[in-house]
Amino acid sequence: MRAAMATADVGDDVLDGDPTTGALEALVAKTLGKERALFFPSGSMANQAAIWVHTRPGTELLCDAEAHIYHWEIAGAAALCGVQCRPVKGQGLVYRADDLRAHIRTPSIHAPEPSLVCMENTHNGAGGVVTSVEEMQAIQVVAGEHGLPVHLDGARLWNAATALQRPLSDLASCADSVMVSFSKGLGAPLGACLAGSAEFITRAHRVRKRFGGGMRQSGVVAAAAMYALQHNYGRLAEDHASARHLELVLDGAGGAKVVSPDTNIVMIDLPKPVATDVVAKALELGVRISAWHPSRVRAVTHLDAPAGVVAEAAARIRQALEAVLA
Ligand SMILES: Cc1ncc(COP(=O)(O)O)c(C=O)c1O
Repeated sequence: MRAAMATADVGDDVLDGDPTTGALEALVAKTLGKERALFFPSGSMANQAAIWVHTRPGTELLCDAEAHIYHWEIAGAAALCGVQCRPVKGQGLVYRADDLRAHIRTPSIHAPEPSLVCMENTHNGAGGVVTSVEEMQAIQVVAGEHGLPVHLDGARLWNAATALQRPLSDLASCADSVMVSFSKGLGAPLGACLAGSAEFITRAHRVRKRFGGGMRQSGVVAAAAMYALQHNYGRLAEDHASARHLELVLDGAGGAKVVSPDTNIVMIDLPKPVATDVVAKALELGVRISAWHPSRVRAVTHLDAPAGVVAEAAARIRQALEAVLA
């Protein structure tokens, strides 16, 4: 990846285009089955640009109650786009079409109009949970019944497609716009693409410029994203298998309960609010995991940790859980 970055053909993407960035955008658009794609420095900026283009101030977007757009983009929808997020709390780990239907308000002079439906697949906060193509289609139908566009936060769409054994374009076809990230499981240092119709991307391009997201010799980082897509996408199933191994070893340790992983994120629920102690103990034993909330710890498997390393890490996390929860 570093060699690809060093030898990347570059131009000026703010002025008249960068060849490597253009090639990446064309590849991503083709892979997702969309007319065009646009390279962004981050997934958050790409999500916010999508919200800007789809919505108008004084309206609301509907997203999962645990969505990244709602929790982790520091109220960007409100601050940048004048849009409020309406969290949809599902019956299960991630909202479904029926949950969405129940949350769309009856038109009223007293209530904000909806302007956008957002999905997240895989769902980070729920623990890398995958939504099926059929469920996504059902959500798209509900949005369509209300004349609402759909944006897909697909930071980890690669993992969802791998788990479902479906082409990425099947998942992307369930939304008008799609964000995919190169800096999660694919292992690039940064970057995301936003994909959609040619008209949508023309408008998103202006917003990217306004947000300060124009990057000049962006080929240096686009080359990393291209490398990641071409070399690291095909190995994501290994991370999913490693996550299942973590579940096998960790479930029940000291009374902890592992949320069965669909992909590469493993959420470990603790019987008491000692997540920071577990994280500190694991670090002492040489493994980095994080506290999701006081009673939940999050572990992520990735390309820098092959199966043998994960097996060793699992044993050490188990030791940490047993020590802290004893
Ligand atoms: C689901 C989801 N969407 C968007 C993002 C934002 O991506 P970035 O860190 O590139 O801004 C993340 C980051 O963790 C994420 O998990």
